[in-house]
Amino acid sequence: HGTSRINERGHLEIGGCDTADLKAQFGTPLYIVDEQSVRNRCREYIDAFKVSGLKYQVAYASKAFCVMAMCRLAEEEGMSLDVVSDGELYTALEAGFPAERIHFHGNNKTPDEIEMALDAHIGCFVVDNEVELHLLQAIAAEKGRQVKILLRVTPGVEAHTHEYISTGQTDSKFGFDIGNGSAYEAVKLAASQPNLELLGLHSHIGSQIFEVEGFQMAVQRVAEFTRSVKEGLNVTFSVVNLGGGFGIRYVEGDTPLHVSQYVKAITDAVKTHFAGIAPELPEIWVEPGRSIVGDAGTTLYTVGTSKDIPGVRKYVAVDGGMTDNPRPALYESQYEALLANRANEPVEEKVSIAGKCCESGDMLIWDVELPKVESGDLLAVACTGAYNYSMASNYNRIRKPAVVFVKDGIGDLVVRRESLEDIVRHDVVPVRINKQT
Ligand code: LLP
Repeated sequence: HGTSRINERGHLEIGGCDTADLKAQFGTPLYIVDEQSVRNRCREYIDAFKVSGLKYQVAYASKAFCVMAMCRLAEEEGMSLDVVSDGELYTALEAGFPAERIHFHGNNKTPDEIEMALDAHIGCFVVDNEVELHLLQAIAAEKGRQVKILLRVTPGVEAHTHEYISTGQTDSKFGFDIGNGSAYEAVKLAASQPNLELLGLHSHIGSQIFEVEGFQMAVQRVAEFTRSVKEGLNVTFSVVNLGGGFGIRYVEGDTPLHVSQYVKAITDAVKTHFAGIAPELPEIWVEPGRSIVGDAGTTLYTVGTSKDIPGVRKYVAVDGGMTDNPRPALYESQYEALLANRANEPVEEKVSIAGKCCESGDMLIWDVELPKVESGDLLAVACTGAYNYSMASNYNRIRKPAVVFVKDGIGDLVVRRESLEDIVRHDVVPVRINKQT
């Protein structure tokens, strides 16, 4: 994928950078992000919306990978930004991301977070529930502000990979249910709040979705609901946000569509189902996260020990694991890997890749075919750009890896590797524990 290839030395090269050189320069484990690939993906979304002729915003869902350099890149590519916490918001603001293009999500925004976002003059709050609606109105009134909002609704469609289910009533912690009337009541309530300006609705149906039907069904449900509030409450919407969830290929057998196919399916469905509800079709927003950065990321590890259990399995351990990639342990996610320093050698053995945490569940890949693996080899795990660094932990007090952006043969550090000092930076030992007895 992207700009990676195997070079003359038989090494994996990404963005023109030899991974062995990246190891020498930055150490391992190392997250490597193919910058051009991220940029291309942003452009694919924007180009696809341009083709549709609709008004649009493409918001990068920063939860997938939120660091200042990524926020800068997203801004350069004309993206908006979806944040879900003060930490993501702070990262974006520190990076100089234009506040008016930031959307604030989440099902439990604290009063402090709401204030921070209001003071920063962000573009829009995606209001999740009634408690938040009242809280936001109160804080906005106190500050004498008008605040743009979307209401998050659950359209009764759940999608994951190939399956999408249409459920009458959605059991979800997020949003107002369209099916049981709570969304209708929320629109009525929101429209009557003096300091809130209701722009429209937000719907997110799931993640790592390969098919368009779930999105089309969500558009239809949201459109029907829009018609009903227009007729019943005389409220109209100028924005419909359809969330993220567009799938990527992690392993052979994953069959995502091209970005343009998802966007076309959505915009076509909008043209069909929203026709005639209001004089103008709504502006369409989407929030891709995984599909912007997922397959642009590679994690580079150094192989350490191994354990061969004859007739059973060979474990090969790397210098990272569930601390930098918790997805296999959490979701049984599958990944592909290759030996980055001997990328052109034939496959010779089947091994399982273990992490270095004190936990049996710390496995990265079960059964991957590689050349004969030796201590000191470089293992590259592909498609680790999304929900890896952003979900990394310090379990076992393991330091978080560095992150580099590679492009045109240059590797730029965008996150420094944590130091041992970082590990104890927030520790405090109360004086009484130090008392000599
Ligand atoms: N918008 C909303 C409201 C979301 O909840 C999400 C993801 C997105 C956008 C972006 O979805 P994407 O395009 O990245 O699929 N940690 C999990 C994924 C959780 C996704 C949560 N919401 C994983 O590692 O697979």
